Amino acid sequence: VWVGAGAQRGENALRRALDEEAIADVIFVRYESSQTWVASVLVQSGRVLVPAGNIVYWQDRGSRLVPSAANPDAAFRASGLRILGPGDSSVCVEAMQATFVGYLNHYASNPWLRPIDAGAAYADWALRSLGGRDYAVVGDMGPSGDVRAIALVHISEQTAEVLLAGVVPGARGRGAYSTFIVAIAEACARLGLSRVVISTQDHNVAVQRLWCRAGFEPVVGVTIVHSMTPDFVDTAVADSGT
Ligand SMILES: CC(C)(COP(=O)(O)OP(=O)(O)OC[C@H]1O[C@@H](n2cnc3c(N)ncnc32)[C@H](O)[C@@H]1OP(=O)(O)O)[C@@H](O)C(=O)NCCC(=O)NCCS
Repeated sequence: VWVGAGAQRGENALRRALDEEAIADVIFVRYESSQTWVASVLVQSGRVLVPAGNIVYWQDRGSRLVPSAANPDAAFRASGLRILGPGDSSVCVEAMQATFVGYLNHYASNPWLRPIDAGAAYADWALRSLGGRDYAVVGDMGPSGDVRAIALVHISEQTAEVLLAGVVPGARGRGAYSTFIVAIAEACARLGLSRVVISTQDHNVAVQRLWCRAGFEPVVGVTIVHSMTPDFVDTAVADSGT
């Protein structure tokens, strides 16, 4: 259920949406944090709620370059990066897994969901996006073809959204991420995209400091709540023996 600018507004619309989906064991509710009224609708729904954290979206302040690239491959190459293809699946999985192992996303907040590792989940997401239309898995490659930094980018007509981006553990602490994110923004400008957006959990202050230094600015906060049926929680409690 998306609530906020450009989406359904108003308590009745939200109540209706929750009623229509009442059979669902788990509903992930994401709403702009400015829509504080959503909390009162959720607590009156009779479902079990888990506060699952906040996401902060940041946006590049503007293009640095004039559009010059015919396609994404050329744009990223001109920025010193490479779009990985279906032939790079093992490199992609290894780099994503290593970069995001142990990463705490909203699933980690919910004691009633089976624990999964973000590294494995994000590796799977990137793998399914390799070679996909509108998606680019982008690598900053070392001299021997190893990946120093990796990102999953969704490219639409005007906007690129960096869905995942990080540096492999062995290359951290040397400024690699800042170079990488600026190169991605420049590649997007070469493609003629007017906006580059990126988001993370608000607890990830390390990366937000880097975005700030790279010329991004915060644009919106999003709250995530998991809403579950009492039956689902009872079953999860029974299964876990707690
Ligand atoms: C957060 C992250 C992107 C930083 O990349 P990086 O190339 O190591 O960045 P930097 O070298 O500029 O260092 C960033 C900070 O970490 C500190 N740092 C130093 N050594 C480090 C190390 N071995 N590992 C991690 N951070 C280190 C730096 O001192 C710096 O602190 P500062 O902001 O106070 O100056 C990287 O740790 C990462 O990929 N993390 C997991 C994925 C992630 O969080 N992605 C972003 C959300 S999608």
